[in-house]
Amino acid sequence: FDTANRDKFRPLYHHTPLYGWMNDANGLVYKDGEYHLYFQYNPYGSVWGNMHWGHSVSRDLVHWEHLPVALARDTMGHIFSGSSVVDVKNTAGYGEGTVVSFYTSASDKNGQIECMAYSRDNGRTFTKYGKNPVLTPFDGLKDFRDPKVFWYEPEQKWVMIVSADKEMRFFSSKDLKDWTYMSAFGNGYGVQPSQFECPDMVQLPVGGDENNKKWALIVNINPGCLFGGSATQYFVGDFDGTNFVCDTKPEVVKWMDWGKDHYATVCFSNTGDRVIAVPWMSNWQYANIIPTQQYRSANALPRELTMYSEGKDVCLAVNPVKELDALRKETKEIPAFTVESGKEFTVDTLFAANDGAFEMDLELAADADCSGFKLMNGRGEYVDIYLDGKNGKLVMDRVHSGIVDFGKNAIPHEKEAHDNRVKNSINYVDDFALATWAPLSKDKQHKLRIFVDKCSVEIFLDGGKVAMTNLVFPNEPYNSLSFYSRNGSTKVTACTFYKLGL
Ligand code: FRU
Repeated sequence: FDTANRDKFRPLYHHTPLYGWMNDANGLVYKDGEYHLYFQYNPYGSVWGNMHWGHSVSRDLVHWEHLPVALARDTMGHIFSGSSVVDVKNTAGYGEGTVVSFYTSASDKNGQIECMAYSRDNGRTFTKYGKNPVLTPFDGLKDFRDPKVFWYEPEQKWVMIVSADKEMRFFSSKDLKDWTYMSAFGNGYGVQPSQFECPDMVQLPVGGDENNKKWALIVNINPGCLFGGSATQYFVGDFDGTNFVCDTKPEVVKWMDWGKDHYATVCFSNTGDRVIAVPWMSNWQYANIIPTQQYRSANALPRELTMYSEGKDVCLAVNPVKELDALRKETKEIPAFTVESGKEFTVDTLFAANDGAFEMDLELAADADCSGFKLMNGRGEYVDIYLDGKNGKLVMDRVHSGIVDFGKNAIPHEKEAHDNRVKNSINYVDDFALATWAPLSKDKQHKLRIFVDKCSVEIFLDGGKVAMTNLVFPNEPYNSLSFYSRNGSTKVTACTFYKLGL
């Protein structure tokens, strides 16, 4: 079977399946120096269907080795999303350090039920538990899936969070097999989706203060994204082993990413103090019709999550993992320059042999209504990224980014998202050809880290206060830049490009 790459948009340094369809990252777990990335996988075609857990493994979160399917679809149905733990204390009786995974079996006959499987060979092969399912919905809910299991140290017990339609339900267990209902959270909180999906919950010190830890309940919603389709929100609060209590009022919404291609984000278990999340880099509105063939969908860069406070508000900062620095192959530094109002400053060639994979780190001091740049290729295609100081927004506009026309066949717009775009004067042609925006602080100084690959642009602003992940399909790599400044000047005090390669 020839698995040499046949897609020009296949990313160079983002994880993709060799062939076939991928959605959510599943069962992320770190063990004995290896990061296991399982994922929703259709090995029989590059559209959604026949769900299995595919499997890749990495020692550095950057280089991925492809392994055989870990969990294959069976007579109980699809193998939907879920999580893995390392059973350090042998609570389930399969041996110390066994990897135990939880997934949803989904079928018309049985509905959505939670099942377990365990691996004694470091996550390579799994045995499905003979008495599956371990959990079924007590009220016959249709949408009851994506079990996230973690160890709750103070009570020496396991906790499972299941997305149960309009809420997340919390269960506990001593042996990973018998689960008892504890509580629910979510109804009426944040942006209310048609249903919650793929929950996760992590505890982090606020601003690095080990005496002040908070929990972030991450939950994915579809639809409900500000720009249409799928997105990831989170709630910050406390967890006493039974109940999650949110710090903020129900109407407060916190987005983990302000792009349109960030979904089903969950974190690795067993990583000690680090919290590392992997988002699926697509949107259910058009994931099945993006212009690739051999495979569909990539994962966004693994991100390290930390917590910081802003006044009384506690938020997640989202930054690319430091391991990605190892991708830097060539450096190009441009000495500081000023873009005068109404003028442009261009960088004609970023790299001589640009294969479309690079990072740019910028620091700027903007005293303008709008400071930005176009990332362009030789075909007149470009991504427009700008700080709209006047309206307090960071914007990424992909209307002219390359192939966008498949967006016309996307799953129909939701009225709310459409109204939102109109209200916020978002440049908007259809569900793919649009601009996304994030709030921008009033500070005049900003730092941007931008990662470009064959089919994506990811922005991390001001130390991760904003992350923005968007797909783009340029017909040739972007290789020049044109900075501009409107109604005021922009000083670019640092401007470094790195050509990236594995
Ligand atoms: C989220 C999701 C999950 C489900 C899986 C099925 O993208 O809908 O809720 O388990 O995908 O592939």
